[in-house]
Amino acid sequence: MPWPLSSGAGAEAARSRRGLPGLPGLALTAFVLLLPPVAAGRQGPYPIFTEAHLDATMTTLGPNVAGVRAALAAGDYATAKERAIRSREQLATTITFWRDRDRQDAVAWLRVALNGLDALDTALSVESVDAAAAAAFAEQITEACTACHAVYREPDGDGGYRLKSSAFP
Ligand code: HEC
Repeated sequence: MPWPLSSGAGAEAARSRRGLPGLPGLALTAFVLLLPPVAAGRQGPYPIFTEAHLDATMTTLGPNVAGVRAALAAGDYATAKERAIRSREQLATTITFWRDRDRQDAVAWLRVALNGLDALDTALSVESVDAAAAAAFAEQITEACTACHAVYREPDGDGGYRLKSSAFP
């Protein structure tokens, strides 16, 4: 019988010393591996994507997208591309939040922003980058951010932002 972690009589003895018979031990291992990757931070998919996750993701997304714009302005396309890819990864995780709450308008803005980040990535992946086209994609991305913020975001009174409470009565 294959045993993925260890094999042989020694391992068998070790297992019985720990009181873990083979199969339940394997099931336990599988269970632990399937636990939500909370400790992994913001990159992982969340089984439940809370308001705190949204806040944390947006807070790191902001500087990354600002970095895309700054790198584009400086003509540093390698950095712009790297940050666009990172931004896309971060933003994509937030879709769960809006799906769970059945907010189709938010999902639509999110898609526009994600498509814009993809298009920007492609535009920056060629030998001779079309600066105007790249700038237009950056603009499209920002418009999608702004559209969602206008409906779902409000100042938290402490210099930051929070989910707009009136949008979730
Ligand atoms: C589908 C809706 C939606 C989209 C799209 C969206 N955001 Fe947000 N964003 C929010 C909401 C809601 C908040 C308030 C949540 C919070 O900060 O607690 C927020 C908060 C923020 C914050 C403030 C974080 C803080 O608390 O200081 C930043 C920065 C931010 N977003 C950047 C962006 C950028 C950049 C984009 C586009 C690439 C973007 N967001 C796209 C919904 C969205």
